[in-house]
Amino acid sequence: MKKFLALAVLAFASAQASANECEVTVSTGDKMQFEQSSLSVPASCSEVTLTLEHKGKMPVSAMGHNWVLAETQQYQDVAMKGAAAGLDNNYLPQGDDRILAHTKMIGGGESVSITFSTEGLAGKDLTYFCSFPGHWTMMKGKFTVQ
Ligand code: CO
Repeated sequence: MKKFLALAVLAFASAQASANECEVTVSTGDKMQFEQSSLSVPASCSEVTLTLEHKGKMPVSAMGHNWVLAETQQYQDVAMKGAAAGLDNNYLPQGDDRILAHTKMIGGGESVSITFSTEGLAGKDLTYFCSFPGHWTMMKGKFTVQ
């Protein structure tokens, strides 16, 4: 009986820990770069809460940033098609199911959070990027669910 209780406490403790591990923050500013070049969450996270913070001062029309997730083989094409979609569509091709998750486009002083499912993402080669025209070549990183 004692052993069973100890195991139950351990299981509870690890569930608590993973709640924090499932929350990630990525920061950016008035330059075309993310401060983090990679992000990782454990596969035990069924959902990820991602926060994008823009610490700069420039408006969204001049130095907008978003956070978009796609498979690495597909992100360049998504980014190029997104450039034609306009700011009203967050510079993303509408209805494109290659977009696995995304935030809206934000400007300096703003932040935005999204929660998305990790279903089917574990072990995949994933890239996150900003789809503001021209930014994706520099604003990108590896996203890992493992
Ligand atoms: Co950007």
